[in-house]
Amino acid sequence: MYLDINAIRNDFPILSQEVYGKPLVYLDNAATTQKPLQVLRKMEEVYSTINANIHRGTHHLSLLATESHEEARKTVQNFIHAEKASEIIFTRGATESINLVASSFCRLQCKAGDEIILTTMEHHANIVPWQIQRGITGVEIKVVPLTETGEIRLEDIEELISSKTKLISLTHVSNVSGIINPIAEVIRLAHNYNIPVLIDASQSVPHIPLNVKELDCDFLVFSSHKMYGPTGVGVLYGKETWLEKMPPYQGGGEMIAHVTFEKTTFNELPFKFEAGTPDYVGSTALGEAIRYIESIGLDNIRQYEKMLLDYALEKLTQINGMQIIGNARSRSSVLSFLVSNIHPYDMGMLLDRLGIAVRTGHHCAQPLMDALGIEGTLRASFAFYNTREEIDILVEGIQRVAKMF
Ligand code: ALA
Repeated sequence: MYLDINAIRNDFPILSQEVYGKPLVYLDNAATTQKPLQVLRKMEEVYSTINANIHRGTHHLSLLATESHEEARKTVQNFIHAEKASEIIFTRGATESINLVASSFCRLQCKAGDEIILTTMEHHANIVPWQIQRGITGVEIKVVPLTETGEIRLEDIEELISSKTKLISLTHVSNVSGIINPIAEVIRLAHNYNIPVLIDASQSVPHIPLNVKELDCDFLVFSSHKMYGPTGVGVLYGKETWLEKMPPYQGGGEMIAHVTFEKTTFNELPFKFEAGTPDYVGSTALGEAIRYIESIGLDNIRQYEKMLLDYALEKLTQINGMQIIGNARSRSSVLSFLVSNIHPYDMGMLLDRLGIAVRTGHHCAQPLMDALGIEGTLRASFAFYNTREEIDILVEGIQRVAKMF
């Protein structure tokens, strides 16, 4: 497998800058990825050639902008292999997508005492929306524990399932440990009990090919900004059967069929869930990001990033006092670690001075930190534009910083 990394890096001009006089080594891709010129140019093109509010106007620009938004919907549909474009809802991000499902699904399906199953490794975005619903509907939250290696086990999920379980919501890939959860098996298990499943694919969609039809998941969410697209755009995939039944999340323009002060009827899918002016520039640019990913090929990306991850693991584990968090057989492009008793924040600050961007802290997964008995970690997360040389710089940087303590 061959990726032309030089050509790829030329598409991301931000990567060739220096910080504090050192070449930037950007290893915070799980927080957000950089954007290729193709995506940046597409945004400029939309604003400078076809900008108009969509779906409302009959004028030329409005029709073009509408077409562009709907084309992007089809691009997303094909990318994740959804049955219908109307099953793709554009939101502001994965967080809003989960809030949408939590709010609408719970209003449809849940009463006090019903249960939602989450795992210990969820991001706050897949915890807090359900807690908000707990306060409104009285729905209870059950939490799947982790094994010593930081993984979930199907038998632990099955143990939590009861006649009160209404939904299982879990991440595909942990944003802390990079562990890949066996989502196909979880979905099969849940469906044996007629329980729907929501997959948070925020950390997997830029790295692993996804096929929602094959997976048979009921909902799947992700954010554009973690997959080389712009910020402020996200996707909710939902099976038509669920989306048809679920009440709207927000009210406003475009999501209605007819409004009087007495009664409002709602628009058809997907518009029922897209109140207000959607980010048609962002959705179009997300479509461009998907085309960019496809031009490299997700299989090539996966292979290259696996090489990077294996290399990073091999090199990092040679560092004295290195503790890698989570030890699963199957992981994606994220590595969390601690070095001796150096506080992650101190190490992160000093690495930054060497031009190395990693994330430090609890990574919006405080319950996972509590389960691990730690306050936070350092996290290096990779994209297909990273190189082995950058991992060498990280390793040297960690060794240099460690000597100061
Ligand atoms: N959820 C993002 C992360 O894990 C911000 O860094």
